[in-house]
Amino acid sequence: MGKASTVSSLLCCPCRCLFCGVFGCLFSMLTCVFFSAGLVALVLYLLFRPHIIRATAVSADLSNFDLTARTWILHYNLSLAVQVRNPNKRIALRYHGVDAQAFYEGQRLVQAGLPDFFQDTGETSTLSPAFVGESPLVGGVAAAAFRREAAEGAAFSVNVKITAHLKLKLWVITVPGPKPKIDCPLKIQRRNATDGAGTPEFHPTECRVWF
Ligand SMILES: *[C@@H]1O[C@H](CO)[C@@H](O)[C@H](O)[C@H]1NC(C)=O
Ligand SMILES: *[C@@H]1O[C@H](CO)[C@@H](O)[C@H](O)[C@H]1NC(C)=O
Repeated sequence: MGKASTVSSLLCCPCRCLFCGVFGCLFSMLTCVFFSAGLVALVLYLLFRPHIIRATAVSADLSNFDLTARTWILHYNLSLAVQVRNPNKRIALRYHGVDAQAFYEGQRLVQAGLPDFFQDTGETSTLSPAFVGESPLVGGVAAAAFRREAAEGAAFSVNVKITAHLKLKLWVITVPGPKPKIDCPLKIQRRNATDGAGTPEFHPTECRVWF
């Protein structure tokens, strides 16, 4: 018998209660439980080495982004492509309840639901949310920001946030996972229909991801 097994039998053997009293026994058992749980967590961690997903906005098309004078209604038509990568070697991911929202000056534009999907280990998936509609822009500050950005080359600061529920698939087991939040602060050039230049250049933007 090795030293380690002697220690663990000393920690966990219920017979010790006879010698060390109720509190001592409780203490030994709790130590044993925590020790085992920690060991299991460590083994699982080393086995699966979970990594956070990565997201990049790779293209954006802002074909319409106009503010009507006086009524301050913002008309917009924005379509995006966001690549989401699962860097894990052993954990596949199932996304459900995927939801994208776009914000201008902190004000929410229309919301876009996205389909559920499955992402195998190391796989990259492309999400294509589209935001088409009109929303009132509340407050003079937001309208002033719009006019400033429209005057400075019509590149607008739009924030896109994507949330989802995850299920983790480890071999044949599926367990509930965290809820990732993806935040993409974008600067998107509005398309100009009259100059016929097509979609303006978009610089791929790394999004922030946290759980
Ligand atoms: C939004 O823009 C896309 C791409 O330019 C276009 O195909 C679509 O018809 C537009 N939708 C609306 C409602 O204007
Ligand atoms: C679109 O491009 C044309 C020609 O370059 C320019 O005169 C016009 O002001 C532009 N329109 C907008 C809304 O930027």
